Amino acid sequence: MTASTAPGVLARRVVAWQQQHGRNHLPWQNTQNPYRVWLSEVMLQQTQVATASGYFNRFVARLPTLQHLADASLDEVLGLWSGLGYYSRARNLHRCAQTVVLQHGGVFPRSAEVLETLPGIGRSTAAAIASLCFGQRVAILDANVKRVVARVVGFDGDLALAAQQRALWDAATALLPSAKDAPQAMARYTQGMMDLGATVCLPKIPLCGVCPLQSDCQAHAQGQPQRYPVRSRRLKRSSQSLWLLWARTSDGAVWLNHRPTPGVWAALHCLPLFDSEAALHAAVPARWQAQLKPLTPFLHVLTHKDLHLHPWRIDLRAPESLGEVDGSWVSAQRWPGLGLPAPIRKLLEQRGA
Ligand code: ADE
Ligand code: SF4
Repeated sequence: MTASTAPGVLARRVVAWQQQHGRNHLPWQNTQNPYRVWLSEVMLQQTQVATASGYFNRFVARLPTLQHLADASLDEVLGLWSGLGYYSRARNLHRCAQTVVLQHGGVFPRSAEVLETLPGIGRSTAAAIASLCFGQRVAILDANVKRVVARVVGFDGDLALAAQQRALWDAATALLPSAKDAPQAMARYTQGMMDLGATVCLPKIPLCGVCPLQSDCQAHAQGQPQRYPVRSRRLKRSSQSLWLLWARTSDGAVWLNHRPTPGVWAALHCLPLFDSEAALHAAVPARWQAQLKPLTPFLHVLTHKDLHLHPWRIDLRAPESLGEVDGSWVSAQRWPGLGLPAPIRKLLEQRGA
């Protein structure tokens, strides 16, 4: 279960390949600025490069430094994040910026060990920042890199088990550039491993023919690289039904409230949510009942949960009070800029529906 090639040699192949064939023109590259690298890594945790790029450019145009982010309101941060999903990332980003300002004088720590103590920064993200910005010799292990490492060393432990995850981290660490090469090699090595995972060592059909590690790779030698990595346990999923009240006026204002923290869509703006159709009806003033109209229910998939959403709409001429229903009117000019859950935004953008 070890790579057959000396580790320093394997790392040099990754570095040379990255230089020639890797991605070198992404908006967060060609800088050692930890603010930009950190922000991009957090965005890329659950978002594809193509989508993240646009969000990244808008985010740094609006909040160009860590201090700007620390000084911004959570609402503004969630607005810039709106549509990316996994909003705990945005809340942690904001908290992390404030922590770096308060506890580290506004300067990012340079070691992965210290970075990992910050909100929203896990072991792999800490290592990405420390290696990309400061040349520290530490291994990253996001989903793409797990696949590359597991295949190269033929790691057949079950990654559903914490002990096997730790063993894979050790394997990833053993593949790093030598201590001598590390200071100038680490940034490119880290990027190279990510790029290999994203563009060559693909989940279903790895492109071993163009892979710089083909001659080092156990999984390739065995002939079935797609068998790695091994993971037995499936996520247990739950499901929940929610009823949405979509009240709007003829000039496009909508009635929105703030989601409580913690919970689904914490701290985002949202249409009022109810646990049952009866609860939704009970909350709407009697004089509007006749105008409530059911729309087509739809499914929204969260990481651990399927949400079955049942929207009901009510069209009012003027922004009148909705009585018991928590919230307030938000004008057509203002609501598109708020932090809204992606499925709610999509619903509200169905004009004339
Ligand atoms: N995924 C995670 N980090 C990345 C990076 N720096 N470049 C491209 N994809 C990534
Ligand atoms: Fe992945 Fe194939 Fe390269 Fe091995 S040789 S690392 S399986 S692409």
